[in-house]
Amino acid sequence: MRILSIESSADETAVSIVETVGDFPTATYTLLGNSLRSQVELHNTYGGIFPMMAKREHAKALVPLLTLALTEAELLEEGSTSVDDTNAINKILGREEGLAEELLTFFAKYSLPEIDLIAVTSGPGLEPALWVGISFAKALAFVLKCPVVPVNHMEGHILAALYNVVEDDKLAQIAFPAIALLVSGGHTELVLMSNWIKYEKIGQTRDDAVGEAFDKVARLMGLPYPGGPEIGKRAALARTQNLPPYKEALPRPMLHSNDFDFSFSGLKTAVRYSVEGETLTEDNKNALARDFEDAAIEVLLKKTTKALDHHHAQTVIIGGGVSANTYLRDTFTQTLLASHPDVEIYLPHRQLSTDNSIMIALAGHAQLATARTAGAIPLIRAEGNRSL
Ligand code: KG4
Ligand code: ZN
Repeated sequence: MRILSIESSADETAVSIVETVGDFPTATYTLLGNSLRSQVELHNTYGGIFPMMAKREHAKALVPLLTLALTEAELLEEGSTSVDDTNAINKILGREEGLAEELLTFFAKYSLPEIDLIAVTSGPGLEPALWVGISFAKALAFVLKCPVVPVNHMEGHILAALYNVVEDDKLAQIAFPAIALLVSGGHTELVLMSNWIKYEKIGQTRDDAVGEAFDKVARLMGLPYPGGPEIGKRAALARTQNLPPYKEALPRPMLHSNDFDFSFSGLKTAVRYSVEGETLTEDNKNALARDFEDAAIEVLLKKTTKALDHHHAQTVIIGGGVSANTYLRDTFTQTLLASHPDVEIYLPHRQLSTDNSIMIALAGHAQLATARTAGAIPLIRAEGNRSL
């Protein structure tokens, strides 16, 4: 089966072509073509994502990215693809300025390959951004006469952590129950997986997501958006130089609370107070980045371990943009190896930590398995707050 997948939930637009052989979860997933365009530079100017601007950028990027992915997959030929009803395309893409025209020009120029399934992120994310991807998927599906399956972005992050871990184009065949820690710009969640596709959210942040805290703390220090990678680099420097703490220790919110929830806004506020009115040297910034990372990751580790013990889990999966963080990766791996030697830990390849469309193809294939048993492919809407 050939899957075309589309991601546009936040500030990355991405299109992939993945070929699958076999059924979920034991299929082989071969990446034929992959393209991604980040809007980071644009949002950097504003220190965060503006939904309407993100939407416009996604609309501009989709046809070029589709062209790139199909070209890389060696599936694009000069010629033309017949479109039975151009009005339908205009209607589906009516809200996306210029996109219908661009897509019709693309169809007039190229003959498209057979695609068996289109997978598109339907949530969670920024609704205007999600709608562009969904409408684009629907327009493509209309012309290519194939089904579209809506994908939960967070399920994508979970499966990305299991993909290709042993370089065989397959998902790791994990032991259940598993605990997934999802750490991204919009989410911080603990999810109990009793089996494949069986998710139960057991904890979440009550305010800011941890990635958001990384980004806000970076901003307080005058570092560029997104702050996560920048904080990570500076914290690593502070560790190699063994810099003393910037000021007094930062708080570990909800470290001992009797649940699996998180809170990061107090930590961010503590950082704000500690820098207010100060002129920070480079060493101050590096030390503070390290102090912040220590605090945030200690809480993530403690709550994950607690969930692991409580649910007698055999597997830990970490997904989402913050899973690219080196200190998080090392700390989780080393601590769990010592405290829970029988538990397997799965982290995504670094390129698959942050948003991408490969994970959307994987989750699309997973959802197709359930949709098939349910006998229908569901109608698609953008669900900004969609949960697992
Ligand atoms: O999953 P993702 O790409 O997008 C969302 O679904 O939100 O996550 C983006 C988040 C941002 O907050 C970014 O600062 C953070 O992931 N991030 C990192 C690192 N790389 C990305 N945080 C800490 N260390 C990193 N190396
Ligand atoms: Zn994400």
